[in-house]
Amino acid sequence: MSGPQIVLVGPMGVGKSTVGALLAERLGCAYRDTDDDIVTAQGRAIAEIFVDEGEAHFRALEKASVAAALAGHEGVLSLGGGAILDADTRALLDAHPTVVYLSMDVEEAARRTGLNTARPLLAVNPRKQWRELMEARRHLYTEVARVVVATDGRTPEEVAEAVLDAL
Ligand code: S3P
Repeated sequence: MSGPQIVLVGPMGVGKSTVGALLAERLGCAYRDTDDDIVTAQGRAIAEIFVDEGEAHFRALEKASVAAALAGHEGVLSLGGGAILDADTRALLDAHPTVVYLSMDVEEAARRTGLNTARPLLAVNPRKQWRELMEARRHLYTEVARVVVATDGRTPEEVAEAVLDAL
């Protein structure tokens, strides 16, 4: 198969990067993360891009980065939590056989991301903002994913195992 072996989607803080790296290790393939690609290409943190140029500019960079990675990367790929907001990106994901949605509930999200102000979308009122984000996005994650793996109360190793079992 050409393109990524596994694509991970889901909200910020769910563990896409950690689980993605574990999966790549288990499968003996490369790991790639579209947020990292953007940071490397722009030479700036994502929070800085949001503040300096706004979310719309970040989303345009993200869309291009996701399309490039879906076309060119053959290992495990994680997408930023908001990548699924773009309809063209969702269409590309719909065509992919191994998109996995890593899900978590709000309490788990508060534990994992609540104090992390490096994430611009959760900087003001993390719990409320996370709930609102999930109301807007849950159906989009579900729409693009072939498989949903709940991460609540699981270690990254257990989540990686569950992903491999589910595929
Ligand atoms: C975002 C998620 C972040 C990053 C940016 C916006 C979002 O990625 O792309 O802060 O809109 O959910 P992670 O899901 O990797 O944290």
